[in-house]
Amino acid sequence: MKPFLYIAIFTLFTSFFPYANAQVVTYPLPDPAISGGRPLMDVISERHSSRTFSSNPIDDQTLSEVLYAAYGVSHDQGKRTIPMAKGQNTMNIYVFRNDGVWLYNPLQQNLSQVSPNDMRSIFNTQDYVYNVPVQLLYTGPNNSYSLMEAGSAYQNVGLYAASRGLNNIVRAYFDKKQAAQILNINEDEVIISQAIGWPQWQD
Ligand SMILES: Cc1cc2nc3c(=O)[nH]c(=O)nc-3n(C[C@H](O)[C@H](O)[C@H](O)COP(=O)(O)O)c2cc1C
Repeated sequence: MKPFLYIAIFTLFTSFFPYANAQVVTYPLPDPAISGGRPLMDVISERHSSRTFSSNPIDDQTLSEVLYAAYGVSHDQGKRTIPMAKGQNTMNIYVFRNDGVWLYNPLQQNLSQVSPNDMRSIFNTQDYVYNVPVQLLYTGPNNSYSLMEAGSAYQNVGLYAASRGLNNIVRAYFDKKQAAQILNINEDEVIISQAIGWPQWQD
């Protein structure tokens, strides 16, 4: 094939798929500690929502364990930490932090960047969540079981939070339209959010 033909095909391809060559930024997470923690019946009894948060960041180890509790791969057979209908993994979890918006990849236990911008303002519909360091956003097709998966996941996170001394609250009241625009999905795929942070006395 003549060189100009290569160039023409390349130009055509990259103009139709402008991100074909873009490097996806990934953020590795440390291995989660998959044993230990406080006794199960204690954390079941202590799970609660909080409406006061420190703005102190969540360290990578803790975030890794939050996400593992929510949706991680728990053993060799590819089982998740929550039950999955028909073994389908239809839900996604996005992490909104001051360094951007990230998609959690359970198989790799890492994050891939969706946006480098701090978009946490979409959650600022109630003043107690301003500056919460991590906002999780659960998404999935609305004709799937992802709603139930999100419920299992946020409960696991609530139990992990009780064990780890973190604050959390599940929230439906945020700007779903803007969330959908940021993630390039339909608004009805935006399920629920969960704010995660340290208690305020840690400031
Ligand atoms: C699906 C769902 C949506 C919720 N949305 C909000 C919300 O938008 N804002 C809020 O302040 N709390 C929200 N909550 C938290 C509840 O108000 C809270 O769980 C309830 O007050 C019970 O408190 P507890 O979790 O400490 O037992 C939500 C909880 C659930 C399960």
